[in-house]
This record gives sequence, structure tokens and C-alpha cells, in this order.
Amino acid sequence: MSSVLEVESRKLSWGSVEFWTVNRPEKLNALNSKVLQELDQHTLRLEKQLKVEPMSVRALIVRGAGDKAFVAGADIAEMEHFTPDQAADFSRLGSRAMSRLEELPVPVIAMVQGFCLGGGLELAMACDFRLAAETAQFGQPEVLLGLIPGFGATLRFAEKLGQSRALEFFLNAQRIPAREAMQMGLVDRVVSESTDLELTALDWAQSLCVQSTPSVIGVLKKLLWKQPERLRRLEDESVAFGQVFASTDKKEGVRAFLEKRKPQFQGH
Ligand code: COA
Repeated sequence: MSSVLEVESRKLSWGSVEFWTVNRPEKLNALNSKVLQELDQHTLRLEKQLKVEPMSVRALIVRGAGDKAFVAGADIAEMEHFTPDQAADFSRLGSRAMSRLEELPVPVIAMVQGFCLGGGLELAMACDFRLAAETAQFGQPEVLLGLIPGFGATLRFAEKLGQSRALEFFLNAQRIPAREAMQMGLVDRVVSESTDLELTALDWAQSLCVQSTPSVIGVLKKLLWKQPERLRRLEDESVAFGQVFASTDKKEGVRAFLEKRKPQFQGH
């Protein structure tokens, strides 16, 4: 079976950069189990590789295939028939892969164009930096499906925005443009349509790497991101994500999306 997370290594004058591309453009790069498994495998592969050859990759850029979406969320069709236990395991798989990504000892940049929604925004938030095209759109619309986020948003949004603004962002389920996302602190840089997104990402990666040795970058990232308390909160989110799958409203929300209609929630 073909790969749904394409990995390309590019050699530049200052070092090699890996591009990881979520490659399901026909489904707006939605994160299914296969994408998450490949993400998990590649984070582990790169983590091991960098222990042996720390200079072999200097930075990582994560993106989506095509120009319509970075990632439009977790795969709603796959989630339709999950039991609560399967849903909790799906959440754990995504959370583990994204935490490993966050802890890689190289700068990781999410290069975002198009829709960056739900699990896609959670993936971008697990990168160290977010670069967005002006036309990109951001949101956490899980509540419209009778769901909660399951790949770390309750942790990372609370850290970035504070609890009240995070809750409001989840509850209003709006899609916001890149510049507004930057004002909120969700996005670090926005480029206009006439600017080459990939070149900007590479220039940024270079400026992040060239002053430092990889060992120092690794230590800084560990101090910033690797805390036992954060892992416990991610596990709490996975348990809660599974529990929500027992609800009637989740069944209705997901069915309504697949039938392209508005959900009728009952409150349980
Ligand atoms: N999971 C599974 N499939 C998805 C998806 C997702 N999160 N997001 C989009 N797709 C699929 C659509 O079902 C459609 O498949 P089809 O052609 O087989 O019907 C295809 O991708 C194209 O999407 P479509 O909805 O036709 O494109 P659009 O331009 O009209 O709308 C969005 C784009 C992003 C607004 C819309 O697809 C959407 O709301 N997606 C879900 C976003 C979401 O709720 N994410 C959080 C999930 S937990």
C-alpha cells in the first residue's frame, strides 16, 4: 500500500531538511489511523537517527499535499464506527506521535495553506512554529460533531491562550483567517499570496539552526516541552475523547457531517 506520509530529504548549503507531507488530498489530508501510524514511525525513526547522527537532519517541515488543505481534521468517516475504547486508542496514537514530534531535537515548522482544522490544527500546534499562507483557515470544529478534540488541543490551547479563550475557541467552532490566528497567538508568521511559502519556511529553518549546535536545540526543546504533567493531561484527554464516543450526540454529529446536513443534538 502506498504511503500517506511522504518523506523527502533536501540537502541545502547549511544542512539537510526533511519535508513530511500528509498525502491524502482527495480527503483534504484528513488524519486516519494509517497517517497517524506513519507519523509515529517517522518520529521514532528520526529520533533514533538523530541520536547516532545529530547533524544528519537540521530541521523538519510538516505540510499537507495540494493547496486546499494542510489537514482538515481527524478522519470523520473512519471515526464513525469507533467504540469508546477504539476512539481512546486512536487519540492515544495521535497524541503520542504528536508529542514525539514536539520533542524531536530539531526545529519543526508547520507550513500551512488551506484548511487547518481539528486534528490538523492540533498537528500544527505540536510543531514548534506555524507559518501560514494568508488564505489559510484555522479552527477546532469538533463540537459540531458532538466531539471534543483528541490530539492535545485541551493542553496546547490552554498553554497558548489560557483556559477561557481556549474554551471559547472550541465552543464557537469558527474558522478564522491566518492573520486573526496570528493575532490570537496560534500562528507565528503569515505570508501574502505573492510570497513563496516553501522558501520562507526554508529561510526560517536556516535562521533557527545556524547559530546553534543540535545538542543545544535538543536540550532547550526537552526543557520546554517534555514534562510528565503534560503527558498526564494528554492521557486524560484521550480517556475523555473515548467516553464522548458513547454519546448519542456524537453519533448524530458524525452522521450529520457524512450526510452533509446540520446535526440535531439531544444533550446526551
Ligand atoms: N474527515 C474525513 N473526510 C473529510 C474530512 C475529515 N475531517 N474533511 C473533508 N473530508 C472529505 C469530504 O468528506 C470530501 O470527501 P468526498 O469527496 O468523498 O465527499 C472531501 O474530503 C472534500 O471535502 P468537502 O467537504 O467536499 O470540501 P469543501 O470544500 O466543501 O469543505 C471543509 C471543506 C473543510 C469545510 C469540510 O470538508 C469540512 O467541514 N470538513 C470537516 C472539518 C472538521 O470537522 N474537522 C474536524 C474533524 S474531528
